[in-house]
Amino acid sequence: MNFREKYGEWAIVLGATEGIGKADAFELARRGMNIILVGRREDALKVLAQEINEETGREIKVLPQDLSEYDAAEKIIEATKDLDMGLINYVACLHSMGQYNKVDYAKYEQMYRVNIRTFSKLLHHFLGVFKERDRGAFVTIGSLSGWTSLPFCAEYAAQKAYMMALTEGVAYECKNTNVDVLLMVAGSTITPTWLKNKPADEDTVAAAMYPEDVAKEGLDQLGVKLSYLVGERNRKNHEKRISTQDRDEIIEELGKMFTHMA
Ligand SMILES: NC(=O)c1ccc[n+]([C@@H]2O[C@H](COP(=O)([O-])OP(=O)(O)OC[C@H]3O[C@@H](n4cnc5c(N)ncnc54)[C@H](OP(=O)(O)O)[C@@H]3O)[C@@H](O)[C@H]2O)c1
Repeated sequence: MNFREKYGEWAIVLGATEGIGKADAFELARRGMNIILVGRREDALKVLAQEINEETGREIKVLPQDLSEYDAAEKIIEATKDLDMGLINYVACLHSMGQYNKVDYAKYEQMYRVNIRTFSKLLHHFLGVFKERDRGAFVTIGSLSGWTSLPFCAEYAAQKAYMMALTEGVAYECKNTNVDVLLMVAGSTITPTWLKNKPADEDTVAAAMYPEDVAKEGLDQLGVKLSYLVGERNRKNHEKRISTQDRDEIIEELGKMFTHMA
């Protein structure tokens, strides 16, 4: 059964313009869904919409929206209320690099609105819709930093931890229903954002995956797993880290990796 038959006609990808969101949008269209692309850059989204439509034949809509706006969630709910929504994919996640106290607090508030406020409002709303009709899916993109913490990117890791814990808890609550919730955790993935901030150590860089592979492997786990770390190498490295190091050692290691961002 393809995703459209299983969950509904339309998927919305929040943060679709590039990177993992773009790859997810292609992959969801290949699995039969019509797609709503959300991001701030309307022109880039229109180009992407045409590319996906030409490759897959699916209907693609563009919904330009800054997810940090106070009423972003309400606007998205309003714009999609007459569609048969089947799947929500929350991808965008703002970050900031540098020592915690040196970043302007207004930046953290902007991150909070994208990573927590808009995210949790959409999760709350669409779970209600999906549970009511016993059909639908929600996929959140997580990061290993949400499981470990991340010096010099501490607020991002903390907000990621919130998104991840909430998604995992809710995923369990939806077990044994026809609503599937997945925390899809990415390791290093070669996206424009990652290329700007990539870590200094060679092992992490060598393990980096392409967004297309992350999307395919991750979305294969929807309806199978509640929480899934994408990439064999990422799973081995993470297992090794948490089984051989205590928390202090992990924080020290990650701190050294990102000292260049201080
Ligand atoms: N790349 C990695 O190595 C990696 C590793 C672990 C986890 N992740 C997670 O994977 C997800 C995607 O990461 P990524 O590297 O592909 O890119 P990203 O930098 O998180 O996201 C970029 C996407 O989000 C959109 N976006 C950013 N701010 C927005 C806003 N205020 N309103 C609406 N859309 C906004 C951008 O489009 P516009 O510019 O058009 O708005 C773009 O499509 C994130 O959740 C990230 O935490 C990534």
